[in-house]
Amino acid sequence: MSANRKDEIRAAIRQLTTEYYEEAYAEKSFTPGESPVPVSGRVFDDRDMFAVIESGLDFWLTAGRFAELFEFKFAKFVGVRDARLVNSGSSANLVAVSVLTSPTLGERQLKPGDEIITVAAGFPTTVNPIIQNRLVPVFVDVELGTYNVDVSMLEQALSPRTKALIFAHTLGNPFNVAAVAEFARKHNLWLIEDCCDALGSTFAGRRVGTFGDLATFSFYPAHHITMGEGGCVGTSQPRLTKLIESFRDWGRDCWCAPGKDNTCGKRFDWQLGTLPHGYDHKYTYSHLGYNLKVSDMQAAAGVAQLEKLEGFIEARKNNFAYLTEQLKPLSKTFLLPQATPGSVPSWFGYPMAVRPESGLERDEVIRFLNGRKIGTRLLFGGNLLRQPAYRDIEKRVVGDLPNSDFITHNVFWIGVYPGLTQPMLDYVVESLNEVSSRCAVG
Ligand SMILES: Cc1ncc(COP(=O)(O)O)c(C=O)c1O
Repeated sequence: MSANRKDEIRAAIRQLTTEYYEEAYAEKSFTPGESPVPVSGRVFDDRDMFAVIESGLDFWLTAGRFAELFEFKFAKFVGVRDARLVNSGSSANLVAVSVLTSPTLGERQLKPGDEIITVAAGFPTTVNPIIQNRLVPVFVDVELGTYNVDVSMLEQALSPRTKALIFAHTLGNPFNVAAVAEFARKHNLWLIEDCCDALGSTFAGRRVGTFGDLATFSFYPAHHITMGEGGCVGTSQPRLTKLIESFRDWGRDCWCAPGKDNTCGKRFDWQLGTLPHGYDHKYTYSHLGYNLKVSDMQAAAGVAQLEKLEGFIEARKNNFAYLTEQLKPLSKTFLLPQATPGSVPSWFGYPMAVRPESGLERDEVIRFLNGRKIGTRLLFGGNLLRQPAYRDIEKRVVGDLPNSDFITHNVFWIGVYPGLTQPMLDYVVESLNEVSSRCAVG
């Protein structure tokens, strides 16, 4: 087929995609009480759809030109030297923790029984890779309001086996990254920033993800941009980039991109382990790795979504500010969220705690909202140590974790994502006023 004919067909598909999008996803009007007000969701247009179709026309399928482009643009946006795509935020955390177990890190290699300090209240797959790597999580509590690590507990959590820290910027709100990074520097600890909920948040004017040794991101539909499933690991240290690629790509020593051979120029000239000299480098494994690569269709969606990211972040901030302004009068009933001093969060959600003295119960509030089709979520797993999966894990716990327990009982969050409209936010505010008026202190 001639190049011209191919271009013609491609242009026709492009045009049809736009027509399909307009037909299938026309904006629906909002009817309070009948239309849902989701907590999150994918926000997309015909350009995102066509990006996925275009990668389908390539039919490369595995990570290819779109993945490469995404990694380049994403690293630039975040402000790290390298970004490497994986198939979820959970995989990003798994890779980030796993790379620290590489023997190539010498004295700084994490060995079984070494400790990583983290928080008890949060998302499970921030913590799971610690356990999966035969390391020991050390749990500290969080603050109420910011829902981030209580940095005053860090010294107490330290032991001679402590080697690393992993904390999430909870619901987009940066943790006190200055204090945490200083603590890591002082004690020669690795720092992993779980930025899965915080793409675009800043602390002291710098994007989160640039403070730690490694940063992780998620592109699940609830997140700031989406690929359906997808994640990324960022770093500015070339030796860590090589390890990320190795653990992501089967544990191999070779660093060829998919479909490429002999990038190192000595594919049949290595001697590693006790393998014979010249054993194909493509099949030489220096780590116990995984295969956590993305497909190019996912990456293509990401490339298109990146174009919208600045606007998405702005919308999240505006929705958050609007809710805060409107909900201030209810602050006797609800503890409203507080941005960590020095930060500008790119909010993932709007966390609220039902004050125990209000006479209202959290579950009563969320049932009321859900009855009005207003979506709510809990602060993930609450105190994870109360979850069945964590009952028998090896761990250290600092203190009694009262705030993590408070979160388990009293906190929920509502949406701020860019798909929410003014009438939706107003309906949420009206509903919270109504449920709050049921209690004495309202
Ligand atoms: C803080 C945090 N870390 C990790 C993840 C896992 O991301 P994924 O769902 O892409 O595996 C999430 C998921 O929402 C999260 O909120």
